[in-house]
Amino acid sequence: MKLIVTGGAGFIGSNFIRMILTSARPYKVLNYDKLTYAGNPENLRDVERRSGYDFIKADICDTARVRRTVSSFKPDAIINFAAETHVDRSILGAADFVKTDVFGTHALLEAVKEFKVPRYIQISTDEVYGSTEKGSFTETSSLVPNSPYAASKAAGDLLCRSYFVTYGLPAIVTRSSNNYGPCQYPEKVIPLFITNALEGSSLPLYGDGKNVRDWIYVEDNCRAVELVLRRGRPGEIYNIGGGSEVENRFLAREILELLDKPASLIKKVCDRPGHDRRYSLNSSKIKKLGFSPSTDFGDGLRKTVEWYRDNPVWWKKLKNADFKSYCRRQYGSRRKGGAAKL
Ligand code: NAD
Ligand code: TYD
Repeated sequence: MKLIVTGGAGFIGSNFIRMILTSARPYKVLNYDKLTYAGNPENLRDVERRSGYDFIKADICDTARVRRTVSSFKPDAIINFAAETHVDRSILGAADFVKTDVFGTHALLEAVKEFKVPRYIQISTDEVYGSTEKGSFTETSSLVPNSPYAASKAAGDLLCRSYFVTYGLPAIVTRSSNNYGPCQYPEKVIPLFITNALEGSSLPLYGDGKNVRDWIYVEDNCRAVELVLRRGRPGEIYNIGGGSEVENRFLAREILELLDKPASLIKKVCDRPGHDRRYSLNSSKIKKLGFSPSTDFGDGLRKTVEWYRDNPVWWKKLKNADFKSYCRRQYGSRRKGGAAKL
């Protein structure tokens, strides 16, 4: 099976490519990635020389390049992981989110339509449903995105739906909960907290620290996406939850314990504007396809902490001058706003 994987140099995309290149099934993969700050060729160093793997540095918003690539590679499927993905960055400025997550998705859908690609998988997120204090979202729950990131992803999902209904385009959407594991850019909470702790610096905990995220180990999500690729039905949406709902303050304490660091490293900072309280997915539909997560949160977090501890060269390069300037914008303003009370 020939796949175009967009955003394959990022966190989930690179874990997905590694999984399929090392699987028993005969996949050929073209990784189409713009290499933004979040795209990192190091993520695939161990598999990039395998036969059946190719890479091009290109933007999914570049309609002509997308058309040329799809027409010459003739994929059996396109899996779109490419996106701007960080909520806090979307609050600082949403333009790139609208470009990539909406216009980029549109460019891919147009190419799928024109060249009759047999399958298109849109990798989306539980954040499109917004926040819920009780119960869990199903695939038919309303879309109530609260951040510019979530809104741009919801717009991409709706374009997929409309292309399925209007043109019969074989689009499938997956909505997973928060992923964690190796190769996640250190702006996201788990790698940020781990690498800060390793450096002996503070863990900035937003608001009262009681916000809840449902964590899924990245390899579990990748297995679910591959299952959807093979067995999912066009026009359908599949929630992929980890079934591990954890409060942020608990997460911070667990990371510090695993690293044998003091709890005093946790620093309460001003809350994120529009901060979603709780995400929770009902994943019965993907379970019926035969999926269940296999990594328990405790084991996954331990493996993740060990990976960052053992790969300082990988993350130290990323915590560079650009990252520090982003952190000054991000966390400087939170400190000025004062710490919220736990
Ligand atoms: P990431 O930020 O680590 O990687 C994104 C990748 O997309 C990078 O390699 C980047 O270079 C590439 N990219 C960005 N803009 C591009 C463009 N215009 N053209 C081509 N490539 C471009 O993201 P991730 O965490 O791996 O997320 C992958 C997908 O999964 C995203 O669609 C995201 O919305 C979704 N998702 C992520 C999570 C999570 O917890 N990380 C949870 C649910 C859904
Ligand atoms: P994040 O990793 O940004 O993922 P998302 O917002 O997409 O769920 O954040 C996960 C949770 O951690 C979220 O509730 C916000 C919180 N958080 C902090 O408390 N401190 C931080 O420095 C960051 C980045 C996030």
